[in-house]
Amino acid sequence: MNLKDLYIEFFVSKGHKQIPSAPVVPENDPSVLFNTAGMQPLIPYLMGQPHPYGTRLCDYQKCIRTNDLDEVGDTFHHTFFEMLGNWSLGDYFKKEAITWSFEFLTEVLNIPVERLAVTVFAGNSDIPKDEEAINIWKSLGIKEDRICPTSDDNFWIAGETGPCGPDSEMFYWRSNDPIPEKFDSEDNRWVEIWNDVFMQYKKDENGITELPSKNVDTGMGVERVTAILEGVNDNYLSSIWSDVIELISNISKLPYEGNEKSMRIIADHIRTAVFISADSSGIKPSNTDQGYILRRLIRRAIRHAKKLNIDINSDWDQQIAILILNKYKKYYKELEDNYNVVLNVLKEEKLKFNRTLEKGLREFEKVSNKDIDGETAFHLFDTYGFPIELTEELASELGLKIDIEGYKEKFREHQEKSRSASVGKFKGGLAGNSEIETKYHTATHLLNAALKITVDKDCHQRGSNITVDRMRFDFNCDHKLTDEEKQATEELVNKWIQEGLDVRVDEMTKEEAIKSGAECMFIEKYPDIVTVYSIGDVSKELCGGPHVKNTSELGHFKIKKEEASSAGVRRIKAILE
Ligand code: ALA
Repeated sequence: MNLKDLYIEFFVSKGHKQIPSAPVVPENDPSVLFNTAGMQPLIPYLMGQPHPYGTRLCDYQKCIRTNDLDEVGDTFHHTFFEMLGNWSLGDYFKKEAITWSFEFLTEVLNIPVERLAVTVFAGNSDIPKDEEAINIWKSLGIKEDRICPTSDDNFWIAGETGPCGPDSEMFYWRSNDPIPEKFDSEDNRWVEIWNDVFMQYKKDENGITELPSKNVDTGMGVERVTAILEGVNDNYLSSIWSDVIELISNISKLPYEGNEKSMRIIADHIRTAVFISADSSGIKPSNTDQGYILRRLIRRAIRHAKKLNIDINSDWDQQIAILILNKYKKYYKELEDNYNVVLNVLKEEKLKFNRTLEKGLREFEKVSNKDIDGETAFHLFDTYGFPIELTEELASELGLKIDIEGYKEKFREHQEKSRSASVGKFKGGLAGNSEIETKYHTATHLLNAALKITVDKDCHQRGSNITVDRMRFDFNCDHKLTDEEKQATEELVNKWIQEGLDVRVDEMTKEEAIKSGAECMFIEKYPDIVTVYSIGDVSKELCGGPHVKNTSELGHFKIKKEEASSAGVRRIKAILE
């Protein structure tokens, strides 16, 4: 049995319900582009909302982290990974969480206790040292020298605000060297394998306060722990990747050894592209947000395929994608459902990239009458997707010099910018439950309902993003909205606001909800029992809330902009004034 199955079986045996993985693109959470941790889709429940599955949950969650995109190529960075997690929502707390973690590691995974060490929260001015966790670990047989209190690393929060708390991290000695008596956080032979967060606080702009209940949130990375269990120091040599690497090696007729970096990048990026394109949010390659990440991943994979002398116009990428689709579809039904969508995304993006490459070559010809400065090299990279190595190669053929340092400088500046952009998104706040955001949330449902009347009954939500300043709504539609359509939509939403319609919430089974005609964007995200929000009799949607009580609270709705988002998807930006 593999790690995922063992984990779920273990926690189900401890009274947990398995919940499905949420989509990689969070719904109605403007603060992040992708789910970056297993707890992210559970934030409303960690904040106190009852979960329809109860108080003990476990899952494997699709996660994507792109801050370290440029690090991929080493032995352990991945843009997509799966995170195992178990949660207590006001149910068990430290004793059970720690005891079960220990039991799973030592009795199910058979990790010898001598190879384990843990860190715990050492305390700060607000919260005391976690003596309770220390005593529980001791009682289970972890020696005192292997229990290390720290303050900086043992308090967990996703970003700046939201549910949080002290945590206890578990480490594994990944080396054949003798195991030291004492844990040393600086020694990278100790590898973190699991994190138990005791999530009893919430942080907002006013500081830290207690949550209504004491929760547990845990997270274990599937890729890393699988590599450890299989005794390999390079994640890409574990069973998660070895067949993908072997395929790339067969296609390129090159050995892994000596070509690791490009092969890892191809394997990682195609896998992430598969999961993003198969997601029910319908992301397609584009120049913004998630679509841009998807585009970059595919193009970078193609560039590295070129490096390995793979004929990029052959079906190499389809072969790799098919292997990944088949490997994961047992766990993620959307891969089965969207098999052809994924293959088409790859195919079309490759065509587009080929065309930009041609344009890039023409641009190169224009600038290649003199030595190439850093700015120009970066422009070729950024606008035409021209890898610096390619620019170097072409320049050297013509006997031109190229300012690599200047290029690197520009590259770093760009990286800084995109890092702070993603931090900025985080700072938006994870929960996003302010009064105005709640109003925008309800207005989103009204807009979704109005478009079906004013534009096309088959218009459905494809994405949504709410900030305190505006709402953004993506929907499928094959044409630019006419002025008449925009006006009619605005008028209809405002009519419903003026009518003062009540917002009602009902619980029902997923089947009942679908039968009742409730609108639903991410069906696989929802558990068997769902909440359905109805607004008068004009709108009915599966949704976790929160919403206003009556539409009269919304003020005046105004469409500020209507534009294309990606092929077949339009985007409306609107405000409430
Ligand atoms: N949310 C915690 C983490 O991601 C478990 O480490």
